[in-house]
Amino acid sequence: MKAFVTGIAGFIGAHVAQHLLDAGWEVSGIDDLSGGRIENVPTGAEFRQIDCNDSLDELLQPIAPTAVFHLAAYAAEGLSHHIPVFNYQNNVVATANVLGAACRANVEHFVFTSSIAAYGHPKSGQPFDERTPCHPCDPYGTAKLACEHHIQSVSEYFGGPRYTIFRPHNVFGPQQNIADPYRNVVGIFIRRALDGQPFPVFGDGSQTRSFSYIDSVAACIAAAPTTEQAVNQTFNVGGDQPMSVRELGETLAEVMAIEPAFEFLPPRQEVQHAHASHAKVRSVFPAAFENEIDIRTGLERMVAYVRQHSVPEPTPCPSAIEISDKLPPSWR
Ligand SMILES: NC(=O)c1ccc[n+]([C@@H]2O[C@H](COP(=O)([O-])OP(=O)(O)OC[C@H]3O[C@@H](n4cnc5c(N)ncnc54)[C@H](O)[C@@H]3O)[C@@H](O)[C@H]2O)c1
Repeated sequence: MKAFVTGIAGFIGAHVAQHLLDAGWEVSGIDDLSGGRIENVPTGAEFRQIDCNDSLDELLQPIAPTAVFHLAAYAAEGLSHHIPVFNYQNNVVATANVLGAACRANVEHFVFTSSIAAYGHPKSGQPFDERTPCHPCDPYGTAKLACEHHIQSVSEYFGGPRYTIFRPHNVFGPQQNIADPYRNVVGIFIRRALDGQPFPVFGDGSQTRSFSYIDSVAACIAAAPTTEQAVNQTFNVGGDQPMSVRELGETLAEVMAIEPAFEFLPPRQEVQHAHASHAKVRSVFPAAFENEIDIRTGLERMVAYVRQHSVPEPTPCPSAIEISDKLPPSWR
């Protein structure tokens, strides 16, 4: 079986590609390296540096992949308010382009990483499950939900490809970009600690997330095309251990053997508590959760990885700021 992975030099894409190689797939992929690193592409995978907005027919048709895993995106949720045109071009238009090329190459299965940002802010206080109505509150979540609808309608209209949609949240681990100041709180904290700087926190750090170690997430995504119960389904995927941002900083400081220090910034408009129910994904992909890694162990692994690799230069914002009103001062 042949897999084609977009965003293969990114964090989740690299891990998914490795899972696929381990499972015996032939793997090729593309990435424009705007947020990923070439070193992330696993040995054994074919790589081309291409933008998902470019014409892909000449590349995809000779490969004739069984499955496309479309993971490329710019996933800076808070910043997406300030770069909406770039966000929709890179996330919605690029997805339509990749899916169109996949259809013309007769791909059987299309796997897409959406986000729990598609749900928006919780109304009930309960964890989101897959039946929770989606009311995204930012351009990033809106783009992800639009992509989900587009993939479903293409599959229904053309009778394929089959699809699986994942809504991950707050995934972290080795190979994650720690150099982008606009996203990946774990990466931002580690990078700050390496520079001897305090952890920047919007508000008082009481907002909670279920930080999710990469292994189980990547295992589910890679297994989707070969899992009958995953056909034309949508899954939340991630961890179940709620933790405040402040507690994350304290735990990370312990792991890095430093004193925790915080720089409290004015609060920004964001969801206070974002958690998802994972009953569905756990019942369909039980093997992926057999050796689940808790947050602290995951942080230890990520810090060990970072310490063994060169610290990357800060990643520039891939777009000019389009709307600067309400832009947090620390992002200027
Ligand atoms: N990490 C998370 O917590 C999380 C949570 C929810 C959803 N997701 C989704 O999972 C996917 C992977 O995220 P990630 O955390 O690995 O991010 P990442 O930035 O590490 O990986 C994305 C990759 O896509 C590449 N890319 C971006 N735009 C591109 C384009 N136009 N053409 C080609 N390549 C392009 C980047 O260079 C990068 O290597 C994304 O779709 C993201 O929205 C991630």
